[in-house]
Amino acid sequence: MVLHIFFVNFAPLKTAQAMIDKIEKLIVEINGLQASNVGEVESLRIKYLSKKGIINDLMADFRNVPANQKREVGQRLNTLKTIAQDKINSLKESAEAGNIAADKPDLTRTAYPIPLGTRHPLNIVKNEIISIFSRLGFVLADGPEVEDDWHVFSSMNFADDHPARDMQDTFFVEAHPDIILRTHTSSVQSRVMEVSKPPIRIICPGRVYRNEAISYRAHCFFHQVEALYVDKNVSFADLKQALLYFAQQMFGPDTKIRLRPSYFPFTEPSAEMDISCNICGGEGCAFCKHTGWVEILGCGMVDPNVLELCKIDSKEYTGYALGMGIERIANLKYQIKDLRLFSENDVRFLKTFEHAN
Ligand code: DAH
Repeated sequence: MVLHIFFVNFAPLKTAQAMIDKIEKLIVEINGLQASNVGEVESLRIKYLSKKGIINDLMADFRNVPANQKREVGQRLNTLKTIAQDKINSLKESAEAGNIAADKPDLTRTAYPIPLGTRHPLNIVKNEIISIFSRLGFVLADGPEVEDDWHVFSSMNFADDHPARDMQDTFFVEAHPDIILRTHTSSVQSRVMEVSKPPIRIICPGRVYRNEAISYRAHCFFHQVEALYVDKNVSFADLKQALLYFAQQMFGPDTKIRLRPSYFPFTEPSAEMDISCNICGGEGCAFCKHTGWVEILGCGMVDPNVLELCKIDSKEYTGYALGMGIERIANLKYQIKDLRLFSENDVRFLKTFEHAN
């Protein structure tokens, strides 16, 4: 009974004092609230002002406050609620203002530089070769990279036991021994000759594949340009004229050429062409191995066998052909020491060609 009286008399009083203390603490706490975005403000609103929030809980407790203290506690409770609402409103306002400021573009800021791509050095060189030969009347021709043995080897007069047919040099398509990746663009010669009649004057740039270990000086794919001219009375002098024109257009008017006898199955006679080293001007340097000359292409008169294999009458027509590696020409023009750079797409390498034509 005593206990009961104690409880009845003291509990509300304790609640009233405890509430006042709690309200004071909350006022301090709420005044110090901070939020860096609208989401955080909303969490604070829920914590303090929602139905299940701290202040509403206090409102529920308020019912237990003795009547004579209701006025004092009620006033403080109202003050707390107003402070909380004002605080949340002002936090919300500044968070929204901050977000808007962050979203708004700053029109005074310097523009980001727009990164421009550059032409690939192999394309620069390829386009230049095409443009030089097109001035001589050559037109573009094309053929597949996945080719058959006939177009790459047989029609080009390769003997059955020629080493280039070996698996060591050529990529074969598994289960199709007749299908290979072309090892040279000469295959386009027969592609064109079998469907057209002379005069034929074509230039065919393209990618070729060889089974080589990749190093700074060899790759399993690279690029070539092939040229073929077939007509009545085409002579070696015509070839030489075209070669000199090409060399001087490509490397400058002082460039000299030199033809060395060579062998290719598809040309007879065959030659390899050197140009005077455009790096040392023929004086001798590491690039030309101190000879003053660098080899740049293979060429010759189209072997009559090739004409016949491609259904062109070799008694009526003659022709010349030539083929060169684009990487080799690009090396000479830009002195690129590592062949792998051409296919790795390193932007730092490519950027160095920003101002090349
Ligand atoms: N096909 C030869 C090679 O890949 C290059 C070549 C040499 C092409 C002589 C020709 C030519 O048209 O006449 O090495």
